[in-house]
Amino acid sequence: MIDLLSDTVTKPTPQMLHAMANAQVGDDVFDEDPTVNALQEKAAKLFGMEAALYCPSGTMTNQIAIKVHTQPGDEVICHHYAHIYNYEGGGMMFNSAVSPKLIGNPDGIFTAQQVEEVISKPGDIHAARTKLVEVENTSNKGGGTCYTIAELNQIKTVVKKHNLGYHLDGARLFNALIAQNENAADYGQTFDSISICLSKGLGCPIGSLLLGNKDFIAEAKFIRKRFGGAWRQAGFMAAAGIYALDNNINRLADDHAKAKMLEQALLQLDYISFVQPVQTNLVIFMLKYPAHAEKFTAQLAEKNIRIIGMGQGRLRMVTHMDVSMSQIETVCNVLAEIKI
Ligand SMILES: Cc1ncc(COP(=O)(O)O)c(C=O)c1O
Repeated sequence: MIDLLSDTVTKPTPQMLHAMANAQVGDDVFDEDPTVNALQEKAAKLFGMEAALYCPSGTMTNQIAIKVHTQPGDEVICHHYAHIYNYEGGGMMFNSAVSPKLIGNPDGIFTAQQVEEVISKPGDIHAARTKLVEVENTSNKGGGTCYTIAELNQIKTVVKKHNLGYHLDGARLFNALIAQNENAADYGQTFDSISICLSKGLGCPIGSLLLGNKDFIAEAKFIRKRFGGAWRQAGFMAAAGIYALDNNINRLADDHAKAKMLEQALLQLDYISFVQPVQTNLVIFMLKYPAHAEKFTAQLAEKNIRIIGMGQGRLRMVTHMDVSMSQIETVCNVLAEIKI
């Protein structure tokens, strides 16, 4: 199987498994897991932030962040493609009782001006109070597209002018850092809170980190407990995270090269109407006849290639460490042979 469904399908390498099996562990609910503590300190240091909290999933880190930043009835500005809006089970409405205000362009990105235009006016008793701006970098549904740190700081200027919180869903932030040759520490200075995932391009079986200042993370820890995410000997998993931060960041460039190859192949095909310009490891494209999507994915499946539909006729292929360059060449050849 050549699995281009997601970068979440990867299995730990023998080296990662070795690190996991040899981890020193303790009860993390009592802050006694040395490997979890080491991972949290390592991540906080990397981003130049005060503290970090290790959690089971990126959904949980995002949901905790929203809960800490807001009060029931508040409003969160995010992209209409945002994971927190589309793919977290309505969590922000359920867990935090906040409403989303949706903005954005078709590539998953929005501008400082678009944010400024929709912030509720102070004292307007008709409008929900805007409390938080959430950005996703890279944008998943947008096709792995990146904000530059300069654009993010322009948004920050607006955010801070209005005394709002600023949260980054950085599930694939390391892809953006590698693609744009940027520094984690610059992101730490820009945002109030950052969620990063270890279980996507970095190849861990589980785990995400929430970063912020000490007070924010102390409150986040309380909310994590309330959400049922306080865990025990999580150090076995945290060891994978430490291994990934040490070894798997720079190799993301290979995944980007593989995605570029898929993009070039798709651009040659007359049954494709649109390919989102590839910036990282996600390839979003559309068929000339979107109604043929099922037939198309079935033909790929016959050749043991798995991809996913993202709705509205958009199809997605994701490159990752468990798919080789020669497998990508195979996919390109199969794409060229398909008749629909
Ligand atoms: C942009 C983005 N944010 C958050 C998440 C949630 O991560 P998890 O699957 O670990 O809950 C994902 C998962 O794919 C994602 O793509």
